[in-house]
Amino acid sequence: MKSVVIKQPNELVIEERELPKPAKGEVRVKIKLAGICGSDSHIYRGHNPFAKYPRVIGHEFFGVIDAVGEDVDSSRIGERVSVDPVISCGHCYPCSVGRPNVCTSLTVLGVHRDGGFSQYATVPSANAYTIPDEISDEFAVMIEPFTIAANATGQLHPTEHDVALIYGAGPMGLTSLQALKGVYKVKQVIVVDRIDERLNMAQLSGADRIINNSNLALKDELDKCNIKPTLIIDAACHPSILQEAITIASPAARILIMGFSSDPCQITQQGITSKELSVFSSRLNANKFPIVIDWLKKKLIDPQKLITHQFDYTNVAEAIETFEKDQKSCCKVLLTF
Ligand code: NAI
Ligand code: MN
Ligand code: ZN
Repeated sequence: MKSVVIKQPNELVIEERELPKPAKGEVRVKIKLAGICGSDSHIYRGHNPFAKYPRVIGHEFFGVIDAVGEDVDSSRIGERVSVDPVISCGHCYPCSVGRPNVCTSLTVLGVHRDGGFSQYATVPSANAYTIPDEISDEFAVMIEPFTIAANATGQLHPTEHDVALIYGAGPMGLTSLQALKGVYKVKQVIVVDRIDERLNMAQLSGADRIINNSNLALKDELDKCNIKPTLIIDAACHPSILQEAITIASPAARILIMGFSSDPCQITQQGITSKELSVFSSRLNANKFPIVIDWLKKKLIDPQKLITHQFDYTNVAEAIETFEKDQKSCCKVLLTF
Protein backbone atom coordinates (compact mmCIF):
# COMPACT_ATOMS: atom_id res chain seq x y z
CA MET A 1 0.00 0.00 0.00
CA LYS A 2 1.02 3.63 -0.42
CA SER A 3 1.30 5.94 2.59
CA VAL A 4 2.04 9.64 2.92
CA VAL A 5 5.02 9.76 5.27
CA ILE A 6 6.74 12.74 6.82
CA LYS A 7 10.26 11.30 7.14
CA GLN A 8 11.49 14.35 9.03
CA PRO A 9 10.45 18.02 9.04
CA ASN A 10 9.98 19.29 5.46
CA GLU A 11 10.50 15.84 3.89
CA LEU A 12 7.27 14.31 2.57
CA VAL A 13 7.33 11.06 0.59
CA ILE A 14 4.70 8.69 -0.73
CA GLU A 15 6.13 5.40 0.43
CA GLU A 16 5.31 1.78 -0.38
CA ARG A 17 4.58 0.03 2.91
CA GLU A 18 3.44 -3.45 3.84
CA LEU A 19 -0.32 -3.83 4.24
CA PRO A 20 -0.86 -3.76 8.04
CA LYS A 21 -2.71 -6.58 9.84
CA PRO A 22 -5.28 -5.43 12.40
CA ALA A 23 -4.17 -6.38 15.92
CA LYS A 24 -6.50 -7.69 18.62
CA GLY A 25 -9.46 -5.33 19.01
CA GLU A 26 -8.59 -3.42 15.81
CA VAL A 27 -10.08 -3.03 12.37
CA ARG A 28 -8.35 -2.19 9.11
CA VAL A 29 -9.88 0.66 7.16
CA LYS A 30 -9.48 1.05 3.41
CA ILE A 31 -9.31 4.84 3.27
CA LYS A 32 -11.51 6.71 0.79
CA LEU A 33 -11.22 10.34 1.90
CA ALA A 34 -9.12 12.35 4.33
CA GLY A 35 -9.09 16.00 5.35
CA ILE A 36 -6.08 18.28 5.68
CA CYS A 37 -5.86 20.18 8.96
CA GLY A 38 -3.45 22.81 10.28
CA SER A 39 -1.81 20.20 12.49
CA ASP A 40 -0.86 18.06 9.45
CA SER A 41 0.94 21.05 8.04
CA HIS A 42 2.57 21.72 11.44
CA ILE A 43 3.92 18.16 11.61
CA TYR A 44 5.13 18.44 8.00
CA ARG A 45 6.96 21.70 8.78
CA GLY A 46 8.34 20.50 12.12
CA HIS A 47 6.19 22.84 14.23
CA ASN A 48 4.33 20.25 16.30
CA PRO A 49 6.09 19.52 19.62
CA PHE A 50 4.19 16.21 20.07
CA ALA A 51 5.16 14.67 16.70
CA LYS A 52 7.70 11.87 16.30
CA TYR A 53 9.17 11.07 12.86
CA PRO A 54 8.78 9.26 10.53
CA ARG A 55 4.99 9.70 10.70
CA VAL A 56 2.01 8.93 8.50
CA ILE A 57 -0.02 12.11 9.07
CA GLY A 58 -3.79 12.58 8.87
CA HIS A 59 -6.37 12.43 11.67
CA GLU A 60 -9.53 13.24 9.70
CA PHE A 61 -10.40 10.14 7.67
CA PHE A 62 -13.19 8.00 6.34
CA GLY A 63 -13.27 4.62 4.63
CA VAL A 64 -14.56 1.07 4.64
CA ILE A 65 -13.54 -1.72 7.04
CA ASP A 66 -11.85 -4.46 5.02
CA ALA A 67 -10.40 -6.68 7.77
CA VAL A 68 -10.83 -7.22 11.51
CA GLY A 69 -8.49 -8.44 14.23
CA GLU A 70 -9.12 -10.93 17.02
CA ASP A 71 -12.16 -10.16 19.22
CA VAL A 72 -13.83 -7.98 16.57
CA ASP A 73 -17.01 -9.26 14.95
CA SER A 74 -16.31 -10.05 11.30
CA SER A 75 -19.74 -8.65 10.43
CA ARG A 76 -18.05 -5.23 10.62
CA ILE A 77 -16.27 -5.94 7.33
CA GLY A 78 -17.80 -3.69 4.67
CA GLU A 79 -19.00 -1.01 7.13
CA ARG A 80 -18.46 2.63 6.15
CA VAL A 81 -16.66 4.27 9.07
CA SER A 82 -15.27 7.58 10.27
CA VAL A 83 -12.38 7.28 12.67
CA ASP A 84 -12.05 9.13 15.96
CA PRO A 85 -8.31 9.88 16.22
CA VAL A 86 -8.38 10.07 20.04
CA ILE A 87 -7.11 6.87 21.70
CA SER A 88 -7.25 6.82 25.50
CA CYS A 89 -6.48 4.38 28.34
CA GLY A 90 -10.00 4.33 29.82
CA HIS A 91 -8.97 4.32 33.50
CA CYS A 92 -6.91 7.42 34.39
CA TYR A 93 -8.56 10.40 36.13
CA PRO A 94 -9.58 12.34 32.96
CA CYS A 95 -10.84 9.12 31.34
CA SER A 96 -12.85 8.30 34.49
CA VAL A 97 -14.63 11.67 34.30
CA GLY A 98 -15.50 11.34 30.61
CA ARG A 99 -12.59 13.35 29.22
CA PRO A 100 -10.51 10.82 27.24
CA ASN A 101 -9.31 13.68 25.02
CA VAL A 102 -6.91 14.67 27.81
CA CYS A 103 -6.06 11.09 28.90
CA THR A 104 -2.76 10.99 30.75
CA SER A 105 -1.47 8.56 28.11
CA LEU A 106 -3.25 10.13 25.15
CA THR A 107 -2.45 8.81 21.67
CA VAL A 108 -3.70 10.72 18.66
CA LEU A 109 -3.77 9.00 15.27
CA GLY A 110 -1.68 10.93 12.77
CA VAL A 111 0.32 12.61 15.55
CA HIS A 112 1.62 10.04 18.07
CA ARG A 113 0.75 7.02 15.93
CA ASP A 114 0.44 6.56 12.16
CA GLY A 115 -2.73 8.11 10.81
CA GLY A 116 -5.02 8.21 7.83
CA PHE A 117 -3.10 9.65 4.85
CA SER A 118 -2.61 6.13 3.59
CA GLN A 119 -4.44 3.61 1.47
CA TYR A 120 -5.11 1.56 4.62
CA ALA A 121 -4.94 2.23 8.36
CA THR A 122 -5.45 -0.01 11.39
CA VAL A 123 -7.36 1.55 14.28
CA PRO A 124 -9.09 0.37 17.48
CA SER A 125 -12.52 -1.01 16.56
CA ALA A 126 -14.17 1.32 19.11
CA ASN A 127 -12.71 4.34 17.28
CA ALA A 128 -14.33 3.37 13.96
CA TYR A 129 -17.84 4.84 13.98
CA THR A 130 -20.43 3.37 11.63
CA ILE A 131 -21.79 5.92 9.17
CA PRO A 132 -25.45 5.59 8.21
CA ASP A 133 -26.15 5.31 4.45
CA GLU A 134 -27.88 8.70 4.42
CA ILE A 135 -24.58 10.47 5.25
CA SER A 136 -22.35 10.93 2.19
CA ASP A 137 -18.62 10.12 2.11
CA GLU A 138 -17.76 13.84 1.89
CA PHE A 139 -19.83 14.63 4.98
CA ALA A 140 -18.49 11.62 6.87
CA VAL A 141 -14.90 12.80 6.48
CA MET A 142 -15.92 16.19 7.94
CA ILE A 143 -17.14 14.70 11.22
CA GLU A 144 -13.82 15.09 13.04
CA PRO A 145 -13.52 18.88 12.53
CA PHE A 146 -17.11 19.26 13.69
CA THR A 147 -16.35 17.20 16.83
CA ILE A 148 -13.92 19.98 17.81
CA ALA A 149 -16.85 22.41 17.65
CA ALA A 150 -19.09 19.94 19.48
CA ASN A 151 -16.55 19.65 22.27
CA ALA A 152 -16.08 23.41 22.55
CA THR A 153 -19.74 24.40 22.38
CA GLY A 154 -20.77 21.47 24.58
CA GLN A 155 -18.83 23.02 27.45
CA LEU A 156 -20.45 26.42 26.97
CA HIS A 157 -24.13 25.40 26.99
CA PRO A 158 -25.13 28.11 24.49
CA THR A 159 -28.71 29.38 24.51
CA GLU A 160 -30.58 31.21 21.78
CA HIS A 161 -30.36 34.40 23.86
CA ASP A 162 -26.58 34.46 23.83
CA VAL A 163 -24.76 37.13 21.89
CA ALA A 164 -21.88 35.04 20.56
CA LEU A 165 -18.63 36.23 19.06
CA ILE A 166 -16.18 33.96 17.27
CA TYR A 167 -12.61 35.00 16.54
CA GLY A 168 -11.37 33.39 13.31
CA ALA A 169 -13.25 32.26 10.21
CA GLY A 170 -10.99 29.29 9.43
CA PRO A 171 -12.29 25.72 9.60
CA MET A 172 -12.51 25.83 13.41
CA GLY A 173 -14.35 29.15 13.54
CA LEU A 174 -16.79 28.00 10.85
CA THR A 175 -17.57 24.62 12.44
CA SER A 176 -18.18 26.43 15.75
CA LEU A 177 -20.38 28.94 13.95
CA GLN A 178 -22.48 26.22 12.32
CA ALA A 179 -22.87 24.51 15.70
CA LEU A 180 -24.01 27.73 17.40
CA LYS A 181 -26.47 28.61 14.65
CA GLY A 182 -27.68 25.17 13.52
CA VAL A 183 -27.66 23.19 16.75
CA TYR A 184 -28.10 25.77 19.52
CA LYS A 185 -30.11 28.31 17.47
CA VAL A 186 -28.16 31.24 18.90
CA LYS A 187 -29.88 34.34 17.47
CA GLN A 188 -26.83 36.55 17.13
CA VAL A 189 -23.39 35.28 16.15
CA ILE A 190 -20.67 37.73 15.18
CA VAL A 191 -17.55 36.49 13.39
CA VAL A 192 -14.29 38.44 13.42
CA ASP A 193 -11.40 37.82 11.03
CA ARG A 194 -8.85 39.77 9.01
CA ILE A 195 -9.60 38.20 5.66
CA ASP A 196 -12.72 39.33 3.78
CA GLU A 197 -12.97 36.15 1.73
CA ARG A 198 -13.08 34.10 4.93
CA LEU A 199 -15.68 36.42 6.43
CA ASN A 200 -17.78 35.83 3.31
CA MET A 201 -17.60 32.12 4.05
CA ALA A 202 -18.72 32.88 7.60
CA GLN A 203 -21.74 34.67 6.19
CA LEU A 204 -22.53 31.61 4.06
CA SER A 205 -22.35 29.49 7.20
CA GLY A 206 -24.89 31.70 8.97
CA ALA A 207 -23.01 34.56 10.68
CA ASP A 208 -25.37 37.41 11.55
CA ARG A 209 -22.62 39.99 11.50
CA ILE A 210 -19.05 39.91 10.25
CA ILE A 211 -16.29 42.26 11.30
CA ASN A 212 -12.91 42.67 9.62
CA ASN A 213 -10.63 43.75 12.48
CA SER A 214 -7.48 44.28 10.40
CA ASN A 215 -7.92 48.06 10.46
CA LEU A 216 -10.15 48.78 13.41
CA ALA A 217 -10.28 48.42 17.17
CA LEU A 218 -12.81 45.68 17.85
CA LYS A 219 -13.86 47.13 21.20
CA ASP A 220 -14.74 50.51 19.64
CA GLU A 221 -16.66 48.83 16.87
CA LEU A 222 -18.69 46.73 19.32
CA ASP A 223 -19.27 49.72 21.63
CA LYS A 224 -20.61 51.71 18.67
CA CYS A 225 -23.23 49.01 18.09
CA ASN A 226 -23.78 48.48 21.82
CA ILE A 227 -22.79 44.80 21.59
CA LYS A 228 -21.52 42.96 24.68
CA PRO A 229 -20.82 39.34 23.79
CA THR A 230 -22.04 36.82 26.37
CA LEU A 231 -20.19 33.91 24.77
CA ILE A 232 -16.81 34.16 23.02
CA ILE A 233 -14.92 31.43 21.19
CA ASP A 234 -11.33 32.09 20.22
CA ALA A 235 -10.76 30.06 17.06
CA ALA A 236 -8.03 32.40 15.82
CA CYS A 237 -5.76 31.62 18.75
CA HIS A 238 -3.31 34.50 18.77
CA PRO A 239 -2.05 34.85 22.36
CA SER A 240 -3.17 38.49 22.49
CA ILE A 241 -6.83 37.62 21.94
CA LEU A 242 -7.69 36.37 25.44
CA GLN A 243 -7.12 39.80 27.01
CA GLU A 244 -9.20 41.47 24.33
CA ALA A 245 -11.96 38.90 24.80
CA ILE A 246 -11.97 39.63 28.55
CA THR A 247 -12.29 43.35 27.78
CA ILE A 248 -15.17 43.06 25.30
CA ALA A 249 -17.11 40.38 27.21
CA SER A 250 -20.38 41.07 28.99
CA PRO A 251 -20.39 40.50 32.76
CA ALA A 252 -21.15 36.80 33.43
CA ALA A 253 -19.93 35.82 29.95
CA ARG A 254 -18.15 32.59 29.02
CA ILE A 255 -14.94 32.59 27.00
CA LEU A 256 -13.44 29.50 25.38
CA ILE A 257 -9.89 29.19 24.06
CA MET A 258 -8.52 26.44 21.84
CA GLY A 259 -5.02 27.63 20.99
CA PHE A 260 -1.72 25.85 21.62
CA SER A 261 0.72 28.75 21.56
CA SER A 262 3.46 28.53 24.17
CA ASP A 263 3.91 32.31 24.15
CA PRO A 264 2.73 34.01 27.32
CA CYS A 265 -0.29 36.31 27.19
CA GLN A 266 -1.06 39.10 29.60
CA ILE A 267 -4.34 38.97 31.44
CA THR A 268 -5.42 40.52 34.73
CA GLN A 269 -7.35 38.92 37.58
CA GLN A 270 -9.44 42.07 37.81
CA GLY A 271 -10.59 41.77 34.21
CA ILE A 272 -11.93 38.29 34.88
CA THR A 273 -13.17 38.53 38.47
CA SER A 274 -14.85 41.93 38.27
CA LYS A 275 -17.21 40.52 35.63
CA GLU A 276 -17.16 36.99 37.07
CA LEU A 277 -16.22 35.58 33.68
CA SER A 278 -15.82 31.86 33.06
CA VAL A 279 -12.83 30.83 30.98
CA PHE A 280 -12.96 27.41 29.29
CA SER A 281 -10.57 25.53 27.06
CA SER A 282 -11.20 22.71 24.65
CA ARG A 283 -8.87 20.10 23.15
CA LEU A 284 -9.79 17.58 20.45
CA ASN A 285 -13.02 15.79 21.31
CA ALA A 286 -14.41 13.64 24.10
CA ASN A 287 -16.63 10.97 22.51
CA LYS A 288 -18.34 13.51 20.25
CA PHE A 289 -18.54 11.37 17.08
CA PRO A 290 -22.06 10.06 17.87
CA ILE A 291 -23.23 13.61 18.55
CA VAL A 292 -21.97 14.98 15.23
CA ILE A 293 -23.36 11.94 13.35
CA ASP A 294 -26.71 12.84 14.90
CA TRP A 295 -26.33 16.52 13.84
CA LEU A 296 -25.71 15.30 10.29
CA LYS A 297 -28.71 12.96 10.34
CA LYS A 298 -30.89 15.87 11.48
CA LYS A 299 -29.25 18.18 8.91
CA LEU A 300 -28.40 20.75 11.62
CA ILE A 301 -25.00 21.43 10.04
CA ASP A 302 -23.81 21.61 6.43
CA PRO A 303 -20.19 20.50 5.93
CA GLN A 304 -20.45 21.19 2.18
CA LYS A 305 -20.11 24.92 2.91
CA LEU A 306 -16.58 24.28 4.21
CA ILE A 307 -15.23 22.00 1.49
CA THR A 308 -13.32 24.11 -1.04
CA HIS A 309 -10.79 21.71 -2.64
CA GLN A 310 -10.23 18.04 -3.45
CA PHE A 311 -6.93 16.50 -4.57
CA ASP A 312 -5.84 12.95 -5.32
CA TYR A 313 -3.48 11.79 -2.56
CA THR A 314 -0.64 11.50 -5.08
CA ASN A 315 -0.74 15.32 -5.19
CA VAL A 316 -0.66 15.66 -1.39
CA ALA A 317 2.34 18.02 -1.34
CA GLU A 318 0.56 20.43 -3.70
CA ALA A 319 -2.62 20.07 -1.64
CA ILE A 320 -0.84 20.99 1.61
CA GLU A 321 0.93 23.92 -0.07
CA THR A 322 -2.36 25.24 -1.43
CA PHE A 323 -3.88 24.87 2.04
CA GLU A 324 -0.99 26.76 3.61
CA LYS A 325 -0.63 29.57 1.09
CA ASP A 326 -4.13 30.28 -0.13
CA GLN A 327 -6.12 31.20 2.98
CA LYS A 328 -8.42 33.39 0.89
CA SER A 329 -9.86 30.56 -1.16
CA CYS A 330 -9.15 27.51 1.05
CA CYS A 331 -11.13 26.16 3.89
CA LYS A 332 -11.27 22.37 4.02
CA VAL A 333 -9.05 20.53 1.53
CA LEU A 334 -9.85 16.84 1.03
CA LEU A 335 -7.62 14.05 -0.30
CA THR A 336 -9.11 11.14 -2.24
CA PHE A 337 -7.48 7.70 -1.97
P1 NAI B 1 -6.84 28.92 10.44
O1 NAI B 1 -5.46 29.42 10.54
O2 NAI B 1 -7.35 28.39 9.15
O3 NAI B 1 -7.87 30.06 10.92
C1 NAI B 1 -7.54 31.06 11.82
C2 NAI B 1 -8.22 32.34 11.36
O4 NAI B 1 -8.03 33.34 12.37
C3 NAI B 1 -7.63 32.90 10.06
O5 NAI B 1 -8.67 33.08 9.12
C4 NAI B 1 -7.00 34.23 10.49
O6 NAI B 1 -7.12 35.23 9.50
C5 NAI B 1 -7.80 34.58 11.73
N1 NAI B 1 -7.10 35.44 12.69
C6 NAI B 1 -5.81 35.39 13.10
N2 NAI B 1 -5.56 36.33 14.03
C7 NAI B 1 -6.72 37.02 14.21
C8 NAI B 1 -7.11 38.10 15.04
N3 NAI B 1 -6.25 38.68 15.87
N4 NAI B 1 -8.38 38.53 14.96
C9 NAI B 1 -9.26 37.94 14.14
N5 NAI B 1 -8.96 36.91 13.34
C10 NAI B 1 -7.70 36.45 13.36
O7 NAI B 1 -6.95 27.79 11.57
P2 NAI B 1 -8.09 26.73 11.97
O8 NAI B 1 -7.81 25.43 11.34
O9 NAI B 1 -9.44 27.32 11.82
O10 NAI B 1 -7.73 26.56 13.50
C11 NAI B 1 -7.80 27.67 14.36
C12 NAI B 1 -6.96 27.47 15.59
O11 NAI B 1 -7.50 26.43 16.37
C13 NAI B 1 -5.50 27.11 15.33
O12 NAI B 1 -4.69 27.91 16.17
C14 NAI B 1 -5.40 25.66 15.73
O13 NAI B 1 -4.15 25.35 16.28
C15 NAI B 1 -6.46 25.55 16.77
N6 NAI B 1 -7.06 24.23 16.86
C16 NAI B 1 -7.36 23.78 18.08
C17 NAI B 1 -7.97 22.57 18.24
C18 NAI B 1 -8.31 22.12 19.58
O14 NAI B 1 -8.83 21.02 19.71
N7 NAI B 1 -8.09 22.90 20.63
C19 NAI B 1 -8.28 21.71 17.10
C20 NAI B 1 -7.99 22.31 15.82
C21 NAI B 1 -7.39 23.53 15.73
MN1 MN C 1 -8.25 18.45 12.45
ZN1 ZN D 1 -6.80 7.76 30.25
